[in-house]
Amino acid sequence: MAETKFTPRVFSGIQPSGGLTLGNYLGAIKRFVDMQGPEFETIYCMVDLHAITVWQDPAALTRNTRELCAGFIAAGIDPEQSILFNQSQVPEHAQLGWIFNCVARMGWMQRMTQWKDKAGKNQQNASLGLFAYPSLMAADILIYHATHVPVGEDQKQHLELTRDIAIKFNNDFGVDFFPITEPVIEGAATRVMSLRDGTKKMSKSDPSDMSRINMTDDADAIALKIRKARTDPDPLPDTLEGLEDRPEARNLVNIYAALADISPEQVIAEHAGQQFGTFKPSLADLAVAKLSPISTEMARLMDDPAEIDRILARGAARAREIAAPILRQTYEIAGMVGAVSA
Ligand code: TYM
Repeated sequence: MAETKFTPRVFSGIQPSGGLTLGNYLGAIKRFVDMQGPEFETIYCMVDLHAITVWQDPAALTRNTRELCAGFIAAGIDPEQSILFNQSQVPEHAQLGWIFNCVARMGWMQRMTQWKDKAGKNQQNASLGLFAYPSLMAADILIYHATHVPVGEDQKQHLELTRDIAIKFNNDFGVDFFPITEPVIEGAATRVMSLRDGTKKMSKSDPSDMSRINMTDDADAIALKIRKARTDPDPLPDTLEGLEDRPEARNLVNIYAALADISPEQVIAEHAGQQFGTFKPSLADLAVAKLSPISTEMARLMDDPAEIDRILARGAARAREIAAPILRQTYEIAGMVGAVSA
C-alpha cells in the first residue's frame, strides 16, 4: 500500500482503569511526548470503553479518567498540539468497532494472550466486551487512519491483529481504505518489569503496591520501593550480556536508561562493578528528580476538574472532525443507506 496516501498520524490509548504506573510512563506516555512535533499529527486517548470490559466503579472511573488526563499533560502532552480526549465522547470508535466485530474472526480473538490472561480459567464468565476488546482497539486506531502506534511490548499482538483487520476489510470490499499501521515499540523500557519479580510485567493490577512505582507516589515512596526492589547479590557487570540471566538487575538498568534518556549500554559503562547498595540510591535520586515534578503537576491539575473536562470535550470535538468522515466512508463502502447516495 502506498504509504504516501495517508497523513503521518500517531494514535495511542491508555486505560483509565487504575493509577498510572512507571511502566505506562516509560513504555507509553514519555514516548507519546517524544512523538509530538512537526512530523506527526498526534492523537492520545483515555480508553474508558476499554476499561469497562472488566468492572469499574463509576466514580472511580470518572476520577481515574481525569487523573490520567492530568498525567498526560503533566508529563508533557500539550493539549493544543495533540488531540487529547476520552474515548466515549467520540462514538465513532464504538461504531467502527461494530463493523470490525463483523470482520474479525472468532479464532483470531481466541488466540490473543491478553484475553487468555485476563479471562483466566473462567472464560465463560468473562464479559463479551473483554473478548471483543482487540477489535475495538483496531477501531480506535483505524477510525483516524493512524499510521503509527507507540505502545509497550505487551500490545504487540493487538497491533498485529489491527493490521489483519485492516487487510481483511480492504480485501473483502476490494478497497485500499484502511492503512496498515506501524507499531512503534522502541526504547529501553518497552517492558518495565515488577520490582518484586523480574519475570512479571509491572502492572497496576498487581496486588503488591511494592511491585510498582505509581505516578502519584511521593519521593519517599519512590525511594523506598527502589531500595526494596528485589535484586541479586552480584555487582553490575561491565557488559549488557552479563545481565542476560539477571532479570531484576536488567530491569533496573533499563529503568535507569529510560529515565536518563541514555542507552542501557551507557548505564553499564557508567556503573560497571557497582553493588546495588550504590546503584539503587543513584536510581532512586534519578527517579525522584524525573517523576516528582510530574506528580506535583498532576496534583495541581486535579484541583480543577472542570478545566480537565473542558480539555477533554475540546479534544473530543477535534477528534470527531477526523473520525466522522472516515466512519461515513466506511459505511458507504459497506453499502449502508444514508451513507450511500442514490
Ligand atoms: P494499557 O492501559 O494496559 O497500557 C497503556 C500503555 O502502557 C504500556 N505499558 C507498559 N509499557 C512498558 N512496561 C510496562 N510494564 C507497561 N505496562 C503498560 C502499554 O503497552 C500501553 O502502550 N489495549 C491498550 C489500550 C488501548 C490502545 C488502543 C493502545 C486501547 N486502544 C489503541 C494503542 C492503540 C491497553 O490496555 O493499554
